Amino acid sequence: MKNRTIELSKPTLVDWAQVAPLFAQVWRSGQLTVGPFTLEFEQAAAQLMQVRNVVAVSSCTSGLLLVVRALNLTGEVVLPSFTWASTGHALIWNGLTPVFADVADGVYTLDPADVARRLTPRTSAIMAANAFGLYPDLDALDDLAKQHGVPLICDSAQAIGATYKDRIGGGLCRAEIFSLSPTKVVTAVEGGLIATDDDELARQVRGMRDYGKTADGADIESIGLSARLSEFHSIIGLTNLRALDELLAARRRLVDRYRANLAGLPGVAFQTIPPGSRSSNSYFLIFLDEQGHDRDAVWRRMAELKTQTKRYFYPPLHRLRSYAALPPPAPPLPVTERASRTALALPLYSHLSLDEVDLVCERLRSVLQ
Ligand SMILES: Cc1ncc(COP(=O)(O)O)c(C=O)c1O
Repeated sequence: MKNRTIELSKPTLVDWAQVAPLFAQVWRSGQLTVGPFTLEFEQAAAQLMQVRNVVAVSSCTSGLLLVVRALNLTGEVVLPSFTWASTGHALIWNGLTPVFADVADGVYTLDPADVARRLTPRTSAIMAANAFGLYPDLDALDDLAKQHGVPLICDSAQAIGATYKDRIGGGLCRAEIFSLSPTKVVTAVEGGLIATDDDELARQVRGMRDYGKTADGADIESIGLSARLSEFHSIIGLTNLRALDELLAARRRLVDRYRANLAGLPGVAFQTIPPGSRSSNSYFLIFLDEQGHDRDAVWRRMAELKTQTKRYFYPPLHRLRSYAALPPPAPPLPVTERASRTALALPLYSHLSLDEVDLVCERLRSVLQ
């Protein structure tokens, strides 16, 4: 036990015995994609998220591409740089200019005050993102979006089960897009969910995930993608979604243990969770004080101690090689720069044990001494 390797993330899958007969049913039926299980998955997700429409797609990234395209955005879109590449990629694929705003200190989600500074007559949307399971201040962002007459979209990739002001995520802005990839709280192996109360937007992206077909399939009305979710993926997503409460509770216990174990450790801070917000605990991060600790050295030492940790989000989008042609953010992004230099994600997945958390903390203490 003492010497064991601990990975950053592992998929927590439901019992194969539950899934196998449903796979056999699909196998026999010949309806392999966007069939009854996808529909059931979409309906179950919509009910859970208390939102009118959920459209299942092949990934969160393809869902983002479709939503941005369907909203017919032009010019600039304001987004965080402290996020995963997909948030920005979806804009660039649609010919839009990403305008990076800073995140707010402590919560590390998009800072409404900084967004306000970067809105221009060319801004056509605000694209917020959920950070490690925590929603940004959506009310403040929504006020800004309304004042400016543009939609607010949220890359909610890591957010399934998270709440904002005691409301479950899904219908918290014009559209939210979730990921079902293997590192997520609920996985479908791969996949994504577009959630929206906007019936017309839902109708459009439903067609666009299937090349842009009309509802009767007789014509192609838009430039869509091939981004359907298979029946097999939908079965896995649906069965895992039914276990959401247990998955969230398991992660909550592990994160509470991390916080209790590491509280008061000099130079170690956590993400602040505002009242009314519940994180999905997609990741658990520590933020190291640069005066006392070299994050990269800690990351390397933890690897030597057989503990996989991750510098995350790192590099931030504006420092990715693929974004080098864009002008540097002006004014700069001091909180993003510091967070990406000091954040370290520790191992977390739903079936990690409390003993393993204790072991990670023991190793971390020895490294930080
Ligand atoms: C914020 C964010 N957006 C988008 C994605 C991409 O999700 P997918 O792999 O389903 O396209 C991720 C995946 O980790 C993410 O964290």
